[in-house]
Amino acid sequence: MWRSRVVSVSGALHRHLARNSVRFHSLKAASSLDGSAGTSSDELSHFKSLAPSWWDTEGSQRLLHQMNLMRMDFIQRNLRALETVEDADTFIPGYNYQEFLPKSVSKIVNQEWDQKVSDLLKKKQLSVLDVGCGGGILSESMARLPFVKHVRGIDLTEDCILIAQVHASSDPSLNGKLDYKVESLDKVHGKFDIVGCFEMLEHVSRPDIILEHCWNRLNQDGVLFLSTINRGFVSWFTTIFVAENVLGIVPRGTHQLKKFIKAQEVVEWFNKKHAKEFKILDLKGTMFVPMNGWVEHDCTSVGNYIMAIQKLH
Ligand SMILES: C[S@@+](CC[C@H](N)C(=O)[O-])C[C@H]1O[C@@H](n2cnc3c(N)ncnc32)[C@H](O)[C@@H]1O
Repeated sequence: MWRSRVVSVSGALHRHLARNSVRFHSLKAASSLDGSAGTSSDELSHFKSLAPSWWDTEGSQRLLHQMNLMRMDFIQRNLRALETVEDADTFIPGYNYQEFLPKSVSKIVNQEWDQKVSDLLKKKQLSVLDVGCGGGILSESMARLPFVKHVRGIDLTEDCILIAQVHASSDPSLNGKLDYKVESLDKVHGKFDIVGCFEMLEHVSRPDIILEHCWNRLNQDGVLFLSTINRGFVSWFTTIFVAENVLGIVPRGTHQLKKFIKAQEVVEWFNKKHAKEFKILDLKGTMFVPMNGWVEHDCTSVGNYIMAIQKLH
């Protein structure tokens, strides 16, 4: 029964997708455009209703809590890869030393190298803007990193910001490292080393405006991290049909297929608006594997994805 229903829905879906094939409008002066980027009041009241259970790791946001482990790994891996160890007193040969050297030796080489990268990063003391921070799952994790000086989390849902503030206040180590504000992106001043926009673009009707504002808030060499969902049948099937309607592990009404954005559209938008000013550091497909959590994979055009884009000189 499920199968025939899915097949008949699939035809309608393809027609729907064809009608909504372009998510990015032509963007002239994005910096003067409203940073709410067309987020509807329905979207915001949906997140308001979820705010009280935001930090329940078995509650409405459990998939975000699980996803957070994967995205923190992704962020740290990409930031670490940008560091160059110049004063290495450990010589790392160009061949695959892990296979060539005895395990005990290559393990020590790795540890020393990792420590040098950690020291370099720690000296940087980076500033972070978390756009659409919700109840602060990612903002808190970022603020705990030793190489992060300060995180600002902004969101348009007041109740989410309240929950974020209350939750952060229970950890004294976050004192002075994290602040939250109900604020639209176009009202944010200053520049940041890292801008994060996680699971948020698929909730606005003008993702291009959000991207432009995020880009304008980045320091040179800074990195924009984002994660969102490809528009397509697989995303509808997994994220809306299965997760929301069948299993109920994501609250019903959280997602709308027409608001999903293909990874390729994000890349094309950067090519069009900021050609030669950016470098895609990393792009990975991501998926939830029951009993295992969120994992990365190489198919970036289907389902969820995560991306790191560096602002060049
Ligand atoms: C699915 S939640 C993601 C929360 C958080 N980024 C995370 O991944 O843990 C989406 C959040 O985006 C916020 N949001 C939607 N449109 C926004 C906008 N234009 N500006 C700021 N926040 C927005 C919502 O209020 C909601 O808290």
